[in-house]
Amino acid sequence: MTQATMTQAEYWNGEVGQRWARSQAVLDAVFAPLTEALFAGAALPPGAAILDIGCGAGATALVAARAAGTGGRVLAADLSGPLLEVARGRAVQAGDAPVAWVEADAETQDFGAAAFDHAISRFGVMFFSDSRAAFANIRRSLKPGGRLTFLCWRAMADNPWVTVPRAAVLPLVPDAAPPDVEGPGPFRFADPEGLSRLLRAAGFDEVACAPVARDLLLGQADDGSARTAAGAAAAVVVELGPVSRLLRDREPPVRQAALEAVTEAFLPHARDGAVRLEAGCWLVSAG
Ligand SMILES: C[S@@+](CC[C@H](N)C(=O)[O-])C[C@H]1O[C@@H](n2cnc3c(N)ncnc32)[C@H](O)[C@@H]1O
Repeated sequence: MTQATMTQAEYWNGEVGQRWARSQAVLDAVFAPLTEALFAGAALPPGAAILDIGCGAGATALVAARAAGTGGRVLAADLSGPLLEVARGRAVQAGDAPVAWVEADAETQDFGAAAFDHAISRFGVMFFSDSRAAFANIRRSLKPGGRLTFLCWRAMADNPWVTVPRAAVLPLVPDAAPPDVEGPGPFRFADPEGLSRLLRAAGFDEVACAPVARDLLLGQADDGSARTAAGAAAAVVVELGPVSRLLRDREPPVRQAALEAVTEAFLPHARDGAVRLEAGCWLVSAG
């Protein structure tokens, strides 16, 4: 089955979900500056009831549980069994809100009407088959005055952490399909006007899309070696995220060649034993 013909449930429950599940710690470290931006934007108050959409391996649900405290509650939903298995194994700290994990499609799941003060998502809302229906379903789950805050990617050109390795990999996969910016996929909501229209059509009255740019620490070397840092950074982007999509179902020699090509591409970006490249997102707030 190709990427184009799979359902999202098949995609995130198959090899990709397993890979994300294995890489949870790395992923959370790389995305840490973006997670901070998400929670600064959401400003979740103690006692809040919070819905985490496409919660993946659980990092954001746990931060939300810390913010909400014992008087709050978190419902974390995802359609990936392997990612939820990792999430369920992560401990909620004393003093945090209880977290309930649910394997569910956010497009169709009944989360209860007016049940949550806030919905959040870190890159979990770009994969719906019917985005309008999904956002309307999320809107319905929010109390009057409730807000949805999420991060999604800006255009690929605003994401050097993607364009630099992608340029290195493309010659190795000349048959790769161009990125789909209309259907489910990471860059689907790059256009803030289109996204705002969609959210309004789904029932949100005010929508704000604020640009967020952060350097992501993709790889580093204890001994300060530029090559080691570049190799570590290459291993991350070949495994996870938009560049890894180009390599899905490719034979090991192609993957190995990609790792080497990306290492070379990252070398000029290594400083003091670390590779950092910019990521550009929209911090979207809708109420
Ligand atoms: C790019 S990953 C982000 C995961 C997590 N939020 C993070 O930041 O690590 C996208 C997530 O959205 C989930 N997802 C995709 N479509 C979904 C849907 N319709 N309902 C619930 N979760 C969905 C996937 O299973 C996956 O875990």
